[in-house]
Amino acid sequence: MFEDFDGFGETDSGDFVKFGTLEELRQNRTINRKIISKWISVFFDDQDEPYAIEMSCKHQGANLAEGKIVNNVVTCPRHFWKFNIVTGKSHTEYAPDLRKHAVRVKDGVLYVSIRPKP
Ligand code: FES
Repeated sequence: MFEDFDGFGETDSGDFVKFGTLEELRQNRTINRKIISKWISVFFDDQDEPYAIEMSCKHQGANLAEGKIVNNVVTCPRHFWKFNIVTGKSHTEYAPDLRKHAVRVKDGVLYVSIRPKP
């Protein structure tokens, strides 16, 4: 699921924007939306907790939402760089980390912070 969300859409408070629902995430494995010109993906980790990271690979921008996830590590489908979906940390030498975003869940709705976590 890909949706350009640059209009911000509905916010709960502060910097969090409505991103989708837990049900959508269960059905689609990932939800991908563009917020302020940046694509963000939400995934479940291996404990079924939702996490949000930037969607584009730090190498050549491949779509990480199409990568395989094993033990919270997504492998880029293009050249196989690896990133942790919970921390955003790179598992590939010399590769920068991914930006991560805070996620809140309220009444089955996912809200993602507009600004990346420091
Ligand atoms: S684009 Fe992801 S590893 Fe090359």
